[in-house]
Amino acid sequence: MKYKGYAYIYTIGCQMNVYDSEKLGAILKSYGFEKTEDMDIADIIVCNTCSIRHKAEEKAFSFLGRFARIKKKKPHLITVMAGCVAQQEGEKAFERVPHLDMVLGTQAFSRFGQHIDALKSGGQKIVDTNDAPMIYEALPDTTCFNENKISKFVTIMQGCDNFCTYCVVPYVRGRERSRRPENIVEEITLLARSGVREVTLLGQNVNSYGLKEGMIPFPQLLAKINDIKGIQRIRFATSHPKDLSEDLMHAIRDLDKVCNHLHLPVQSGANTILKKMNRGYTRETYIHKISELKKLCPQIALSTDIIVGFPSESRTDFYDTMNLLREIEFDSIFAFAYSDRSSAPAAKFSNQIDEKEKLDRLNQLLELQETYTIKKNTALVGTILDILVEGESTKKRDGFEPGFKKQMKGRSQSNKIVHFPSGHVNIGDMIKIRIENAYPHSLWGHPLGV
Ligand code: 5AD
Ligand code: SF4
Repeated sequence: MKYKGYAYIYTIGCQMNVYDSEKLGAILKSYGFEKTEDMDIADIIVCNTCSIRHKAEEKAFSFLGRFARIKKKKPHLITVMAGCVAQQEGEKAFERVPHLDMVLGTQAFSRFGQHIDALKSGGQKIVDTNDAPMIYEALPDTTCFNENKISKFVTIMQGCDNFCTYCVVPYVRGRERSRRPENIVEEITLLARSGVREVTLLGQNVNSYGLKEGMIPFPQLLAKINDIKGIQRIRFATSHPKDLSEDLMHAIRDLDKVCNHLHLPVQSGANTILKKMNRGYTRETYIHKISELKKLCPQIALSTDIIVGFPSESRTDFYDTMNLLREIEFDSIFAFAYSDRSSAPAAKFSNQIDEKEKLDRLNQLLELQETYTIKKNTALVGTILDILVEGESTKKRDGFEPGFKKQMKGRSQSNKIVHFPSGHVNIGDMIKIRIENAYPHSLWGHPLGV
Protein backbone atom coordinates (compact mmCIF):
# COMPACT_ATOMS: atom_id res chain seq x y z
CA MET A 1 0.00 0.00 0.00
CA LYS A 2 1.01 3.66 -0.40
CA TYR A 3 0.54 6.11 2.45
CA LYS A 4 0.99 9.84 2.98
CA GLY A 5 3.00 10.93 5.97
CA TYR A 6 6.39 11.52 7.54
CA ALA A 7 8.85 9.01 8.97
CA TYR A 8 11.42 9.75 11.67
CA ILE A 9 14.22 7.21 12.18
CA TYR A 10 16.48 7.31 15.23
CA THR A 11 19.61 5.18 15.05
CA ILE A 12 21.62 3.90 18.02
CA GLY A 13 24.77 1.78 17.81
CA CYS A 14 27.22 0.68 15.21
CA GLN A 15 27.86 1.64 11.59
CA MET A 16 25.94 -1.45 10.54
CA ASN A 17 22.86 0.08 12.12
CA VAL A 18 23.39 3.24 10.08
CA TYR A 19 23.27 1.08 6.96
CA ASP A 20 20.23 -0.83 8.26
CA SER A 21 18.41 2.41 9.07
CA GLU A 22 18.86 3.54 5.49
CA LYS A 23 17.31 0.26 4.38
CA LEU A 24 14.35 0.88 6.72
CA GLY A 25 14.11 4.42 5.32
CA ALA A 26 14.11 3.09 1.76
CA ILE A 27 11.28 0.66 2.62
CA LEU A 28 9.28 3.49 4.21
CA LYS A 29 9.87 5.65 1.15
CA SER A 30 8.57 2.90 -1.10
CA TYR A 31 5.39 2.93 1.05
CA GLY A 32 5.01 6.67 0.50
CA PHE A 33 6.52 8.07 3.71
CA GLU A 34 8.79 11.11 3.46
CA LYS A 35 11.82 11.20 5.75
CA THR A 36 11.76 13.97 8.36
CA GLU A 37 14.22 15.26 10.97
CA ASP A 38 11.31 16.70 12.96
CA MET A 39 9.85 14.14 15.38
CA ASP A 40 6.81 16.33 16.06
CA ILE A 41 5.39 15.97 12.57
CA ALA A 42 6.17 12.25 12.22
CA ASP A 43 3.44 9.69 11.48
CA ILE A 44 5.80 6.78 12.04
CA ILE A 45 8.74 6.73 14.44
CA VAL A 46 11.37 3.99 14.21
CA CYS A 47 14.10 3.45 16.78
CA ASN A 48 16.82 1.21 15.35
CA THR A 49 18.40 -0.20 18.48
CA CYS A 50 21.70 -1.63 19.73
CA SER A 51 22.19 -4.12 22.55
CA ILE A 52 25.97 -4.30 22.69
CA ARG A 53 26.16 -2.55 26.06
CA HIS A 54 23.59 -1.84 28.75
CA LYS A 55 23.78 1.92 28.09
CA ALA A 56 22.82 1.55 24.41
CA GLU A 57 19.88 -0.63 25.37
CA GLU A 58 18.69 1.91 27.97
CA LYS A 59 18.95 4.69 25.41
CA ALA A 60 16.47 2.83 23.18
CA PHE A 61 13.93 2.35 25.95
CA SER A 62 14.22 5.93 27.11
CA PHE A 63 13.84 7.28 23.54
CA LEU A 64 10.75 5.18 22.87
CA GLY A 65 9.31 5.91 26.31
CA ARG A 66 9.01 9.58 25.34
CA PHE A 67 6.15 8.87 22.94
CA ALA A 68 3.54 7.70 25.43
CA ARG A 69 2.01 11.18 25.76
CA ILE A 70 2.39 12.05 22.09
CA LYS A 71 0.59 8.84 21.09
CA LYS A 72 -2.36 9.76 23.25
CA LYS A 73 -2.73 13.01 21.31
CA LYS A 74 -1.93 11.41 17.96
CA PRO A 75 -3.38 7.88 17.95
CA HIS A 76 -2.47 7.18 14.31
CA LEU A 77 1.27 7.53 15.14
CA ILE A 78 3.06 4.20 14.60
CA THR A 79 6.00 3.48 16.94
CA VAL A 80 8.52 0.81 16.00
CA MET A 81 11.42 -0.75 17.88
CA ALA A 82 13.78 -2.29 15.29
CA GLY A 83 17.14 -4.06 15.38
CA CYS A 84 19.18 -5.76 18.07
CA VAL A 85 17.19 -4.91 21.23
CA ALA A 86 13.98 -5.80 19.36
CA GLN A 87 15.46 -9.17 18.40
CA GLN A 88 16.60 -9.79 21.97
CA GLU A 89 13.47 -8.63 23.82
CA GLY A 90 10.61 -9.71 21.52
CA GLU A 91 7.20 -9.49 23.34
CA LYS A 92 8.93 -8.31 26.53
CA ALA A 93 9.55 -4.90 24.90
CA PHE A 94 5.81 -4.12 25.35
CA GLU A 95 6.14 -4.46 29.14
CA ARG A 96 8.54 -1.51 29.24
CA VAL A 97 7.00 0.44 26.34
CA PRO A 98 3.28 -0.35 26.42
CA HIS A 99 2.40 2.10 23.61
CA LEU A 100 4.84 0.44 21.18
CA ASP A 101 3.16 -0.89 17.99
CA MET A 102 5.84 -3.03 16.42
CA VAL A 103 8.92 -5.01 17.46
CA LEU A 104 10.97 -5.65 14.32
CA GLY A 105 13.93 -7.98 14.80
CA THR A 106 17.21 -7.82 12.89
CA GLN A 107 16.11 -10.39 10.28
CA ALA A 108 12.57 -9.10 9.77
CA PHE A 109 13.14 -6.00 7.61
CA SER A 110 11.77 -7.59 4.43
CA ARG A 111 8.37 -7.89 6.20
CA PHE A 112 8.39 -4.31 7.56
CA GLY A 113 6.03 -3.04 4.83
CA GLN A 114 3.46 -5.78 5.29
CA HIS A 115 3.49 -5.17 9.06
CA ILE A 116 2.76 -1.47 8.47
CA ASP A 117 -0.17 -2.48 6.22
CA ALA A 118 -1.50 -4.74 8.98
CA LEU A 119 -1.29 -1.97 11.61
CA LYS A 120 -2.83 0.60 9.26
CA SER A 121 -5.78 -1.68 8.65
CA GLY A 122 -6.45 -1.86 12.38
CA GLY A 123 -4.40 -4.93 13.26
CA GLN A 124 -2.94 -5.85 16.64
CA LYS A 125 0.55 -5.03 17.87
CA ILE A 126 3.23 -6.92 15.93
CA VAL A 127 6.30 -8.85 17.07
CA ASP A 128 8.54 -10.27 14.36
CA THR A 129 11.72 -11.86 15.67
CA ASN A 130 11.78 -14.68 13.15
CA ASP A 131 15.49 -15.44 12.80
CA ALA A 132 15.53 -16.95 9.31
CA PRO A 133 18.42 -14.95 7.75
CA MET A 134 17.37 -11.82 5.93
CA ILE A 135 18.72 -11.08 2.46
CA TYR A 136 19.72 -7.45 1.91
CA GLU A 137 19.18 -7.78 -1.84
CA ALA A 138 15.45 -8.21 -1.18
CA LEU A 139 15.32 -4.66 0.24
CA PRO A 140 15.14 -1.49 -1.85
CA ASP A 141 18.42 0.30 -2.61
CA THR A 142 19.33 3.36 -0.59
CA THR A 143 20.81 5.72 -3.16
CA CYS A 144 17.70 7.90 -2.65
CA PHE A 145 19.21 8.92 0.70
CA ASN A 146 22.59 10.12 -0.52
CA GLU A 147 21.82 13.78 0.07
CA ASN A 148 25.24 14.89 -1.15
CA LYS A 149 26.97 12.35 1.06
CA ILE A 150 30.35 11.43 -0.33
CA SER A 151 31.01 8.63 2.14
CA LYS A 152 28.72 5.65 2.74
CA PHE A 153 28.66 2.39 4.68
CA VAL A 154 27.98 -0.87 2.84
CA THR A 155 27.33 -4.02 4.83
CA ILE A 156 29.06 -6.92 3.05
CA MET A 157 28.34 -9.64 5.63
CA GLN A 158 26.04 -10.16 8.58
CA GLY A 159 26.21 -12.04 11.86
CA CYS A 160 29.16 -13.63 13.56
CA ASP A 161 30.54 -17.13 14.23
CA ASN A 162 33.22 -16.18 16.72
CA PHE A 163 31.30 -16.28 20.00
CA CYS A 164 33.48 -13.96 22.05
CA THR A 165 32.16 -14.59 25.55
CA TYR A 166 31.18 -10.94 26.21
CA CYS A 167 29.31 -10.39 22.96
CA VAL A 168 25.61 -10.46 22.05
CA VAL A 169 26.11 -10.23 18.29
CA PRO A 170 25.83 -13.97 17.45
CA TYR A 171 22.60 -14.09 19.45
CA VAL A 172 20.96 -11.00 17.97
CA ARG A 173 22.33 -11.09 14.43
CA GLY A 174 22.76 -14.83 13.91
CA ARG A 175 25.48 -16.82 12.18
CA GLU A 176 27.91 -15.29 9.75
CA ARG A 177 26.85 -14.98 6.12
CA SER A 178 28.34 -12.98 3.27
CA ARG A 179 26.62 -11.11 0.46
CA ARG A 180 27.49 -12.12 -3.09
CA PRO A 181 30.41 -10.11 -4.54
CA GLU A 182 28.48 -9.12 -7.68
CA ASN A 183 25.68 -7.63 -5.54
CA ILE A 184 28.17 -5.64 -3.49
CA VAL A 185 29.96 -4.38 -6.61
CA GLU A 186 26.61 -3.43 -8.19
CA GLU A 187 25.54 -1.51 -5.08
CA ILE A 188 28.83 0.39 -4.87
CA THR A 189 28.76 1.15 -8.60
CA LEU A 190 25.31 2.72 -8.10
CA LEU A 191 26.60 4.69 -5.11
CA ALA A 192 29.59 5.94 -7.14
CA ARG A 193 27.25 7.07 -9.93
CA SER A 194 25.21 9.02 -7.39
CA GLY A 195 28.31 10.93 -6.22
CA VAL A 196 29.71 8.76 -3.43
CA ARG A 197 33.53 8.84 -3.33
CA GLU A 198 34.33 6.71 -0.26
CA VAL A 199 32.84 3.43 0.96
CA THR A 200 33.35 1.66 4.28
CA LEU A 201 32.72 -2.08 3.96
CA LEU A 202 31.12 -3.50 7.07
CA GLY A 203 31.04 -6.89 8.73
CA GLN A 204 31.79 -8.31 12.19
CA ASN A 205 34.83 -10.04 10.75
CA VAL A 206 35.56 -8.93 7.19
CA ASN A 207 38.65 -11.17 7.11
CA SER A 208 36.47 -14.23 6.85
CA TYR A 209 34.30 -12.72 4.10
CA GLY A 210 33.12 -15.32 1.59
CA LEU A 211 35.10 -18.23 3.08
CA LYS A 212 32.09 -20.17 4.34
CA GLU A 213 30.22 -19.78 1.06
CA GLY A 214 33.30 -20.60 -1.07
CA MET A 215 33.12 -17.17 -2.70
CA ILE A 216 36.09 -14.91 -3.47
CA PRO A 217 38.03 -13.99 -0.30
CA PHE A 218 38.06 -10.45 1.10
CA PRO A 219 41.31 -9.23 -0.54
CA GLN A 220 39.88 -10.18 -3.96
CA LEU A 221 36.63 -8.38 -3.15
CA LEU A 222 38.71 -5.30 -2.30
CA ALA A 223 40.45 -5.60 -5.70
CA LYS A 224 37.08 -5.65 -7.49
CA ILE A 225 35.86 -2.59 -5.58
CA ASN A 226 39.18 -0.88 -6.28
CA ASP A 227 38.25 -1.05 -9.99
CA ILE A 228 34.94 0.80 -9.58
CA LYS A 229 35.06 4.16 -11.41
CA GLY A 230 34.32 7.16 -9.21
CA ILE A 231 35.21 5.50 -5.91
CA GLN A 232 38.36 7.10 -4.54
CA ARG A 233 38.69 5.53 -1.11
CA ILE A 234 37.86 2.18 0.45
CA ARG A 235 37.75 1.54 4.19
CA PHE A 236 36.61 -1.55 6.05
CA ALA A 237 35.69 -2.65 9.57
CA THR A 238 36.00 -4.81 11.54
CA SER A 239 38.98 -7.12 11.20
CA HIS A 240 39.55 -9.97 13.61
CA PRO A 241 43.22 -10.41 14.62
CA LYS A 242 43.05 -14.21 14.44
CA ASP A 243 42.02 -14.05 10.75
CA LEU A 244 44.12 -11.12 9.55
CA SER A 245 45.88 -12.66 6.56
CA GLU A 246 49.05 -11.77 4.69
CA ASP A 247 46.93 -11.40 1.56
CA LEU A 248 44.94 -8.66 3.25
CA MET A 249 48.15 -6.92 4.35
CA HIS A 250 49.31 -7.02 0.72
CA ALA A 251 45.95 -5.69 -0.46
CA ILE A 252 46.26 -2.71 1.92
CA ARG A 253 49.75 -2.04 0.53
CA ASP A 254 49.01 -2.61 -3.16
CA LEU A 255 45.47 -1.40 -3.87
CA ASP A 256 45.65 2.36 -4.38
CA LYS A 257 42.14 3.15 -3.09
CA VAL A 258 42.35 1.04 0.07
CA CYS A 259 43.16 3.42 2.92
CA ASN A 260 46.36 3.08 4.87
CA HIS A 261 44.49 2.42 8.11
CA LEU A 262 43.51 -0.71 9.99
CA HIS A 263 41.03 -1.06 12.82
CA LEU A 264 42.07 -4.24 14.62
CA PRO A 265 40.26 -4.77 17.95
CA VAL A 266 42.59 -6.33 20.52
CA GLN A 267 40.11 -6.15 23.47
CA SER A 268 42.78 -6.94 26.11
CA GLY A 269 46.55 -7.12 26.46
CA ALA A 270 46.45 -10.01 28.95
CA ASN A 271 46.59 -13.61 27.73
CA THR A 272 44.45 -14.95 30.59
CA ILE A 273 41.68 -12.50 29.68
CA LEU A 274 41.98 -13.06 25.92
CA LYS A 275 41.51 -16.77 26.62
CA LYS A 276 38.44 -16.17 28.77
CA MET A 277 37.09 -13.87 26.07
CA ASN A 278 37.55 -16.72 23.54
CA ARG A 279 39.42 -14.42 21.17
CA GLY A 280 41.56 -17.13 19.57
CA TYR A 281 44.91 -15.27 19.67
CA THR A 282 47.51 -14.26 22.24
CA ARG A 283 49.08 -10.91 23.03
CA GLU A 284 52.25 -12.16 21.28
CA THR A 285 50.49 -13.19 18.04
CA TYR A 286 48.68 -9.84 17.96
CA ILE A 287 51.97 -7.95 18.32
CA HIS A 288 53.59 -10.18 15.70
CA LYS A 289 50.83 -9.48 13.15
CA ILE A 290 51.10 -5.75 13.77
CA SER A 291 54.86 -5.84 13.24
CA GLU A 292 54.43 -7.82 9.98
CA LEU A 293 51.91 -5.25 8.84
CA LYS A 294 54.19 -2.35 9.75
CA LYS A 295 57.00 -3.95 7.72
CA LEU A 296 54.74 -3.93 4.65
CA CYS A 297 52.99 -0.62 5.34
CA PRO A 298 55.29 1.48 7.54
CA GLN A 299 52.97 4.50 7.59
CA ILE A 300 49.83 2.57 8.48
CA ALA A 301 47.49 4.16 11.04
CA LEU A 302 46.19 1.73 13.65
CA SER A 303 43.13 1.81 15.84
CA THR A 304 41.62 -0.73 18.20
CA ASP A 305 38.79 -1.58 20.62
CA ILE A 306 39.47 -2.40 24.26
CA ILE A 307 37.25 -3.69 27.04
CA VAL A 308 38.36 -3.00 30.61
CA GLY A 309 37.00 -4.74 33.68
CA PHE A 310 36.13 -8.07 32.04
CA PRO A 311 35.20 -10.60 34.79
CA SER A 312 38.29 -11.59 36.82
CA GLU A 313 40.54 -8.95 35.16
CA SER A 314 43.22 -8.37 37.80
CA ARG A 315 45.25 -5.19 38.21
CA THR A 316 48.17 -7.04 36.58
CA ASP A 317 45.97 -8.00 33.61
CA PHE A 318 44.90 -4.39 33.29
CA TYR A 319 48.54 -3.20 33.35
CA ASP A 320 49.26 -5.71 30.54
CA THR A 321 46.68 -3.82 28.49
CA MET A 322 48.19 -0.45 29.46
CA ASN A 323 51.61 -1.75 28.42
CA LEU A 324 50.26 -2.99 25.10
CA LEU A 325 49.13 0.57 24.37
CA ARG A 326 52.66 1.77 25.20
CA GLU A 327 54.19 -0.89 22.96
CA ILE A 328 51.97 -0.46 19.89
CA GLU A 329 51.19 3.26 20.07
CA PHE A 330 47.79 3.17 18.36
CA ASP A 331 46.59 6.30 16.56
CA SER A 332 43.28 6.01 18.39
CA ILE A 333 41.30 3.59 20.51
CA PHE A 334 37.68 2.92 21.41
CA ALA A 335 37.60 1.81 25.01
CA PHE A 336 34.64 0.44 26.96
CA ALA A 337 33.90 -0.71 30.48
CA TYR A 338 32.74 -4.32 30.35
CA SER A 339 28.94 -4.45 30.32
CA ASP A 340 27.16 -7.61 31.41
CA ARG A 341 24.86 -8.97 28.68
CA SER A 342 22.56 -11.68 29.97
CA SER A 343 22.58 -13.65 26.68
CA ALA A 344 26.39 -13.74 26.51
CA PRO A 345 28.34 -16.44 28.43
CA ALA A 346 30.52 -13.98 30.42
CA ALA A 347 27.43 -12.89 32.38
CA LYS A 348 27.81 -16.17 34.28
CA PHE A 349 31.57 -15.80 34.90
CA SER A 350 32.69 -15.37 38.49
CA ASN A 351 34.65 -12.40 39.86
CA GLN A 352 32.72 -9.60 38.21
CA ILE A 353 34.59 -6.30 38.64
CA ASP A 354 33.14 -3.46 40.68
CA GLU A 355 31.62 -0.67 38.50
CA LYS A 356 33.74 2.04 40.14
CA GLU A 357 36.92 0.07 39.51
CA LYS A 358 35.93 -0.45 35.85
CA LEU A 359 35.45 3.30 35.37
CA ASP A 360 38.72 4.02 37.10
CA ARG A 361 40.55 1.64 34.74
CA LEU A 362 38.73 3.12 31.74
CA ASN A 363 39.84 6.65 32.67
CA GLN A 364 43.45 5.56 33.19
CA LEU A 365 43.47 3.88 29.80
CA LEU A 366 41.93 6.86 27.99
CA GLU A 367 44.36 9.23 29.66
CA LEU A 368 47.33 7.12 28.57
CA GLN A 369 46.02 6.82 25.01
CA GLU A 370 45.57 10.57 24.72
CA THR A 371 49.35 11.02 24.94
CA TYR A 372 49.83 8.66 21.97
CA THR A 373 47.00 10.20 19.95
CA ILE A 374 48.56 13.64 20.40
CA LYS A 375 52.03 12.24 19.64
CA LYS A 376 50.77 10.65 16.38
CA ASN A 377 48.90 13.79 15.36
CA THR A 378 51.85 16.06 16.20
CA ALA A 379 54.13 13.91 14.03
CA LEU A 380 51.99 14.93 11.05
CA VAL A 381 52.69 18.66 11.47
CA GLY A 382 54.70 19.81 8.45
CA THR A 383 53.55 16.94 6.24
CA ILE A 384 51.22 17.17 3.25
CA LEU A 385 48.14 14.95 3.35
CA ASP A 386 45.57 14.02 0.71
CA ILE A 387 42.22 15.09 2.10
CA LEU A 388 38.80 14.06 0.87
CA VAL A 389 36.57 17.08 1.53
CA GLU A 390 33.49 16.17 3.58
CA GLY A 391 31.77 19.47 4.21
CA GLU A 392 31.76 22.74 6.09
CA SER A 393 33.45 22.71 9.42
CA THR A 394 31.25 23.34 12.44
CA LYS A 395 34.27 23.80 14.68
CA LYS A 396 35.07 27.37 13.69
CA ARG A 397 38.32 29.03 14.70
CA ASP A 398 37.79 32.63 15.80
CA GLY A 399 36.92 34.53 12.65
CA PHE A 400 37.99 33.62 9.16
CA GLU A 401 41.48 34.10 7.80
CA PRO A 402 41.74 36.97 5.33
CA GLY A 403 40.98 35.82 1.81
CA PHE A 404 38.99 32.75 2.91
CA LYS A 405 35.22 32.74 3.02
CA LYS A 406 34.66 29.40 4.67
CA GLN A 407 36.20 26.81 6.91
CA MET A 408 35.90 23.24 5.65
CA LYS A 409 36.77 19.79 6.93
CA GLY A 410 37.90 16.57 5.39
CA ARG A 411 39.56 13.30 6.25
CA SER A 412 42.99 11.86 5.62
CA GLN A 413 43.58 8.27 4.49
CA SER A 414 44.57 7.54 8.06
CA ASN A 415 41.07 8.65 9.16
CA LYS A 416 42.11 11.93 10.80
CA ILE A 417 39.79 14.91 10.60
CA VAL A 418 41.48 17.95 9.10
CA HIS A 419 40.01 21.47 9.29
CA PHE A 420 41.15 24.12 6.84
CA PRO A 421 40.17 27.55 5.55
CA SER A 422 38.85 27.47 2.03
CA GLY A 423 37.67 29.79 -0.68
CA HIS A 424 36.39 27.44 -3.30
CA VAL A 425 36.80 23.72 -2.67
CA ASN A 426 33.77 21.48 -2.99
CA ILE A 427 32.48 18.49 -1.07
CA GLY A 428 33.98 15.38 -2.66
CA ASP A 429 37.18 17.11 -3.88
CA MET A 430 40.49 15.41 -3.10
CA ILE A 431 42.96 18.11 -2.17
CA LYS A 432 46.43 18.41 -0.65
CA ILE A 433 46.75 20.11 2.72
CA ARG A 434 49.88 21.15 4.57
CA ILE A 435 49.33 20.30 8.24
CA GLU A 436 50.19 23.14 10.62
CA ASN A 437 48.64 22.30 13.96
CA ALA A 438 47.69 19.12 15.81
CA TYR A 439 44.94 18.74 18.42
CA PRO A 440 43.80 15.63 20.29
CA HIS A 441 40.91 14.97 17.90
CA SER A 442 41.79 16.84 14.73
CA LEU A 443 44.41 18.56 12.62
CA TRP A 444 44.53 22.04 11.10
CA GLY A 445 46.21 23.09 7.87
CA HIS A 446 46.13 25.05 4.62
CA PRO A 447 45.33 23.78 1.13
CA LEU A 448 48.36 23.80 -1.15
CA GLY A 449 48.42 26.28 -3.99
CA VAL A 450 45.72 28.49 -2.52
N1 5AD B 1 30.85 -4.83 27.13
C1 5AD B 1 31.67 -3.82 26.76
N2 5AD B 1 32.10 -3.65 25.51
C2 5AD B 1 31.70 -4.55 24.58
N3 5AD B 1 31.98 -4.67 23.27
C3 5AD B 1 31.32 -5.73 22.80
N4 5AD B 1 30.63 -6.34 23.78
C4 5AD B 1 30.85 -5.63 24.90
C5 5AD B 1 30.42 -5.75 26.23
N5 5AD B 1 29.62 -6.74 26.65
C6 5AD B 1 32.90 -3.76 22.57
C7 5AD B 1 34.05 -4.52 21.93
C8 5AD B 1 33.71 -4.48 20.46
C9 5AD B 1 33.01 -3.16 20.36
C10 5AD B 1 32.18 -2.99 19.12
O1 5AD B 1 32.21 -3.13 21.50
O2 5AD B 1 35.24 -3.82 22.19
O3 5AD B 1 34.85 -4.56 19.64
FE1 SF4 C 1 24.99 -3.08 18.53
FE2 SF4 C 1 26.22 -5.28 17.77
FE3 SF4 C 1 23.74 -4.89 17.08
FE4 SF4 C 1 25.67 -3.36 16.00
S1 SF4 C 1 25.40 -5.60 15.74
S2 SF4 C 1 23.73 -2.67 16.74
S3 SF4 C 1 27.05 -3.19 17.77
S4 SF4 C 1 24.53 -5.21 19.13
